[in-house]
Amino acid sequence: MNIKFEEKYIADDSAIVIGLPENIKELKNFDELDTLLNGLTEEIISANVLSDTFGKVTTTGVTIQRQYRKVVAVGLGDSSELTALKVQKAVGKLFQFMDGEKDSQAQFILDTFAFEPKEVADAIGMMSAVSNHVLMGYDTSDKKQFRDELDVTLITKEDVKAGYDHGAALGNSIILARDFATMPPNLLYPESFADEVAVQFKERPYIKGEVKDFDTLVQEGFGLLAAVGKASVRKPRLVTIEYKHPDAQSDEPIALVGKGITYDSGGYSLKTRTGMRSMKYDMSGAANVVGMMDAISKLELPVHVVAVLALAENMVDGNGMRPDDVYQSLSGKTVEVSNTDAEGRLVLADAVYYASTTYNPKIMMDFATLTGAVIQAIGEDRTGVFTNQGRKFINNLLISSKVTGEDIWHLPISELEDDRVKQSDIADLINADFKPGGASFAAAFINQFTEETPWVHFDIAGTSNTSSTTPFAKKGSTGVMIRTIVDLIESGTLYE
Ligand code: BES
Ligand code: MN
Ligand code: ZN
Repeated sequence: MNIKFEEKYIADDSAIVIGLPENIKELKNFDELDTLLNGLTEEIISANVLSDTFGKVTTTGVTIQRQYRKVVAVGLGDSSELTALKVQKAVGKLFQFMDGEKDSQAQFILDTFAFEPKEVADAIGMMSAVSNHVLMGYDTSDKKQFRDELDVTLITKEDVKAGYDHGAALGNSIILARDFATMPPNLLYPESFADEVAVQFKERPYIKGEVKDFDTLVQEGFGLLAAVGKASVRKPRLVTIEYKHPDAQSDEPIALVGKGITYDSGGYSLKTRTGMRSMKYDMSGAANVVGMMDAISKLELPVHVVAVLALAENMVDGNGMRPDDVYQSLSGKTVEVSNTDAEGRLVLADAVYYASTTYNPKIMMDFATLTGAVIQAIGEDRTGVFTNQGRKFINNLLISSKVTGEDIWHLPISELEDDRVKQSDIADLINADFKPGGASFAAAFINQFTEETPWVHFDIAGTSNTSSTTPFAKKGSTGVMIRTIVDLIESGTLYE
């Protein structure tokens, strides 16, 4: 994508892209707009040629210096009700429309969006990355990403470059995560995932990283991660990425932990043929944590963050983990495996224990496509959130989620689940019972390994990928929670 910034419209053959709020005459640059629309703005709207209905994209033609020019408009509705999120949605719809029409050359008249120009530029940076992104490389046609063909000029007198750059950086981090999640499991497995992450963060400022291989994990006592991954010829890895900004030298870190099951066949508790399909996405938690780290480091946020990725492939083999096996975790607690398909909580148990004992974080958050039960409970459009702290602890998180529109719902864990996870006859813990409330059970299991670190668990089983297109993504992987966690960290409230 080619981006330019200009103060005034330049007569060339690119499309003129505008926002159309209701009460168009109140726009502070109404005269600029009206000149471009040949003095007919109000007539064009009242004739329903262009629409100010929120999210609706319409087009018309105008003559400028005797040349015919295409105008693409997105309706914004009542401008007093606009938010950054609504502007993002409108801009996403614009890009999806332009992709369909092959309008790749455009001048955005920023002040027509009736919103802070810097925020509009931010939305353009982000949405140009995420709205039309499709994974390339496996289909043998040579079609290009729409964004690669885009040639955009932002017209405004204000300096909006920083806003645009911020949005573009965040958008690129989201598509990075989505590309990892979309990769097929024969090509993305623990070792290759770890290698690609290492390449991604190589030579970035303030970053350190480490990869533990299978032998190291066994030697150091990661008994649960090793048990889950041992049946695969692609052996498990534990990846850590530490980012420490100079202004955060003395801060305790924020720990971000990701479930990275590069394929979940279920193991001996094998999934059905329909249940197994799309289990390549079972590493979305880890992929999205990579996206968060990518954004945090590219934006050079003044924080200290560590990421821990638990990577394994859950397969079947003569040496595979059986239902009934007992393993000792890194923490020392023993676990009876009642179901090999409840593998995510096992790898996370070792990962959160490792993160809390190694880094003593101020707050730890884990992201995991953990349970089908969370989908039963709150549907496919909400992320389930659990914490070992009071509800107040997630207040700022709830606010960030409102800002980004990534819906979350606080679900319970209590002594009820603590009792359930301790019901093994022969070990300290059992990894699954077969009762309702499976998402809370899984969360309570992980909490056995948090060592009382203030912790929030995100069950993204329903939200990690989508079957329908939204302004933020075509169908497939979503990169969910990257925007919310970056917003939460940027808000500065984590260190209050
Ligand atoms: N990766 C799955 C959870 C999942 C299911 C994610 C559907 C996305 C869509 C997880 O490892 C799993 O298999 N969970 C089991 C747990 C059960 C055996 C206790 C489940 O939810 O069925
Ligand atoms: Mn599973
Ligand atoms: Zn799984």
